[in-house]
Amino acid sequence: MKKEILQILRQDSERISGEYLSSILGISRVSVWKHIKSLIARGYDVETTSKGYRLLASPDTPFAWEFPDRYEKIHYLETVDSTMDIARNLARKGCPHLTVVVASTQRKGRGRLNRAWYSDKGGLYFTIVLQLSMPPQYMGRVNFYTAAILAQTLREEYGIDAKVKWPNDILIDGKKLCGMLSEMEVEGEMVTFLNIGIGINVNNDPTRQEPNGVSLQQCSDRKVLKKELLAIFLDRFEEKFDLAMAGTAIDLWKKYNSTLGRYIRIVTHNDTLEGYAEDVDTNGALLLKQDDGKINKVIYGDCFH
Ligand code: BTN
Repeated sequence: MKKEILQILRQDSERISGEYLSSILGISRVSVWKHIKSLIARGYDVETTSKGYRLLASPDTPFAWEFPDRYEKIHYLETVDSTMDIARNLARKGCPHLTVVVASTQRKGRGRLNRAWYSDKGGLYFTIVLQLSMPPQYMGRVNFYTAAILAQTLREEYGIDAKVKWPNDILIDGKKLCGMLSEMEVEGEMVTFLNIGIGINVNNDPTRQEPNGVSLQQCSDRKVLKKELLAIFLDRFEEKFDLAMAGTAIDLWKKYNSTLGRYIRIVTHNDTLEGYAEDVDTNGALLLKQDDGKINKVIYGDCFH
């Protein structure tokens, strides 16, 4: 009902009477008032007078009803340990492809290579469930596709000079704006689902925990709404999703990457490699040319420019 009520209130800047809402929605006026009260409790500024209701302002909270076309597939929670855990449970239960779990804060946000991802209020933290049937080695393509689409969205919709650092960090002026973490389950030789968790510094200040972090608020003149960014990104992500499985995902990634063509360092759990980032293969492995000319194929690690 909240989705419908907001749709009606947003169509009109005039007051809408409780009677009108109740007749259009087929619910009692008391019920309309209960929904309005619940919206107010969630941060919506609704002017209520004897003549009716008027929506003055909405919070920047990604409630499911803020995504009318995706309502059934968005699970918004104020605080969770990690959106990855909720998404994994939903995926195992067979939730639809492109289900999204989004939270305002995370108590135990997870990063790559077993690190923590600090998830203060103001950031955008979500996990997309992809119900795919594909060989595990294609996972890199989907990750590259995701990073490329997010960089493209930030560049084209927000005019931000976003670049991708191998494998899928998004940087602005060399500072980390966004990180991605994937988890998958495999049955036999095929992936049954792949979940991609994305943490974007939007209106939070990441520098307290991550000196080399940056947020959109810190580098954009325009106020970025988390719910708007999520909606635009998901539309773009879904629209070209076929590319994700194809080799062309890598070409898209190359367009926005800032790693290739540099002398870089890769740190893994037990090794440090240095060399010239020559290329990536069709599944996203980095081809690192060492000083002796040998090519080292790197499949994971922390990349330092
Ligand atoms: C990294 O750069 O280390 C990856 C960070 C991934 C963070 C996101 S926030 C949403 C999702 N839930 C988590 O616990 N982690 C990912």
